[in-house]
Amino acid sequence: MILVVGGAGYIGSHLVKELAENEEVIVLDNLSTGHREAVDSRAIFVEGDIGNEEVLQMIFKSYPISAVMHFAAYSLVGESVIDPLKYYENNVASTLKLLKAMLNNHVKNFIFSSTAAVYGIPAVEMIDEKTATSPINPYGHSKLLIEQILADFKNAYGLNYIILRYFNAAGAHESAKIGESHNPETHLIPIILQHLLGHRDKVSIFGSDYKTPDGTCIRDYIHVNDLASAHILALKALLAKEKEAEVYNLGNGHGFSVKEVLETCEKVTGLKAKVEMADRRAGDPARLVASSQKIFSELVWEAERNLEQIISDAWEWHRNQLY
Ligand code: UFG
Repeated sequence: MILVVGGAGYIGSHLVKELAENEEVIVLDNLSTGHREAVDSRAIFVEGDIGNEEVLQMIFKSYPISAVMHFAAYSLVGESVIDPLKYYENNVASTLKLLKAMLNNHVKNFIFSSTAAVYGIPAVEMIDEKTATSPINPYGHSKLLIEQILADFKNAYGLNYIILRYFNAAGAHESAKIGESHNPETHLIPIILQHLLGHRDKVSIFGSDYKTPDGTCIRDYIHVNDLASAHILALKALLAKEKEAEVYNLGNGHGFSVKEVLETCEKVTGLKAKVEMADRRAGDPARLVASSQKIFSELVWEAERNLEQIISDAWEWHRNQLY
């Protein structure tokens, strides 16, 4: 049985839907940002916090857990700058409690959701796993701290792990039953689609004087179901003991500027957005594009869905929402 913490959240709920096809799954989520209705009905659901030692103990004693997948983190860069305590408390201190409970119960397989934010402002065009890590915000720091802790725990306690560094997760399940729902929403694609549905009066482009071809920031958007399939492969490799301590980037390998994303949303929906140029948003690197060569060669994973597919799946989901 696999324990998925944060399995009611955006990425976690997509993973659970795929994982539950072949595995028994238990989800632990405190529903602070996740949604109960997003959890696949085949999974057991426990409402609780990853920092709650009693709940963790109950789960590990009651169920035969073979691996833990960790999606239960706060993930907004801007918020982490304003409230770093919230980020270190949950993303680091509570994660330590989770790891401690695993070790106490002899569970030694861990899949960890990390982020492109560990690279800070990279000096290279294509970021690979050897690119220096140098986070520029508490969110990125909180993730990198756990990455370092995992390496130490591998050496000391034999904890096996795979770290997956996501670039810009986007899109929705093809069933349009689950998708990206944050409150408040800060991510580009949902904001554009909500505007095109009439729920926002305009889209602001944060900065048009970056050193990129059209002056707007470039990101590597990756479909949430491509992320989910990478987790399944990583889990298999971990359980088969083919991998014991690895880190992989997860991206499409193609960068799209904010303007290009806007144009693609207009093309997919057939609607025209009202756009305003705004100031830069603090902490935004000009370009973040992944090389996912390592996971391609080692686990034979490759993103299958392009930006148009990402946006059209997100659009189907947003159109079904009652805002
Ligand atoms: N953007 C706008 N207008 C908006 C919203 C976003 O122009 O209304 C721009 C941002 O400035 C950025 C790009 O669109 O250049 C993408 O922004 P998102 O907020 O969608 O995503 P981020 O790239 O900021 O965030 C992602 C992940 C984080 C991760 C970060 C690493 O969601 O978890 O990349 O920098 F930490």
